[in-house]
Amino acid sequence: MIDLQQALTVAVEAARSAGAIHLAHLGRDLQIRSKTTYSDLVTEVDGEAEAAIRAVIARVYPDHAVLGEEEGLGGGAADAPFRWIVDPLDGTVNYAHGFPVFCASVALEARGERVVGAVFDPNRQELFTATRGGGAFLNGQPIRVSDTPGLTTPALVSTGFPYDASGGRNLDLVARLLRLGIPIRRPGAAALDLCNVACGRMDAYWEIGLRPWDSAAGSLIVQEAGGTVTDAGGRPDPYGEMIVVTNGKVHAELLALLTEGAA
Ligand code: IPD
Ligand code: CA
Ligand code: CA
Ligand code: CA
Repeated sequence: MIDLQQALTVAVEAARSAGAIHLAHLGRDLQIRSKTTYSDLVTEVDGEAEAAIRAVIARVYPDHAVLGEEEGLGGGAADAPFRWIVDPLDGTVNYAHGFPVFCASVALEARGERVVGAVFDPNRQELFTATRGGGAFLNGQPIRVSDTPGLTTPALVSTGFPYDASGGRNLDLVARLLRLGIPIRRPGAAALDLCNVACGRMDAYWEIGLRPWDSAAGSLIVQEAGGTVTDAGGRPDPYGEMIVVTNGKVHAELLALLTEGAA
């Protein structure tokens, strides 16, 4: 067993320490490199923030495994029962351009089940948190998903695109919603997209090709806020090829639109 409140305290400290590093370097001269494609950027701040998060976790839980975007799997043994999933800087492209939509995301899985999530947006000083069964919070206040009943009532929906050319696949899906006049946004930080659904600012979000560190914390926060997180087949899997996230009320309608005509 693990004390979830203690683990949450660690997740929050880790996410806040990363956020402080984001702000300390924002607007300064950054070393910006491309990873998989020219637009898949990484800066020294991504690595520095991940190191800070790992240090906070290791101080309290030296045996836990840690999966981070920049350093991969480290910390405790790969089959350790506790695994932290970390995105030290979600929204790196925004960050590198000085566009203030980015965050740090820290989650804990116990034997494969997400039990703690913390997402910190340093620009707005907003901390989203959840523990399994304990509800979701924004700066300590309980949050709930919206009550919007349908996509054309109208809802506000966000999406994202992967860095490689496979992002083009999402254009058809975007077009389906736009043809119905549904407002769509592409803010550029997946963890915040999830949290925006959790607190009712957005009614739904979907994306193809996310990685576990993008969605681990945010999907628990959405579920604890009363929302629904599935893959394209409606299975409760935040790590599927497509993630579909809603207030619950518009879920079936969005799934139907996104999968229309699929084999
Ligand atoms: C990216 C962002 C973006 C999403 C991409 C992610 P990164 O994460 O969350 O919104 O569309 O799929 O890879 O690389 O900035 O941590
Ligand atoms: Ca990310
Ligand atoms: Ca990242
Ligand atoms: Ca990245």
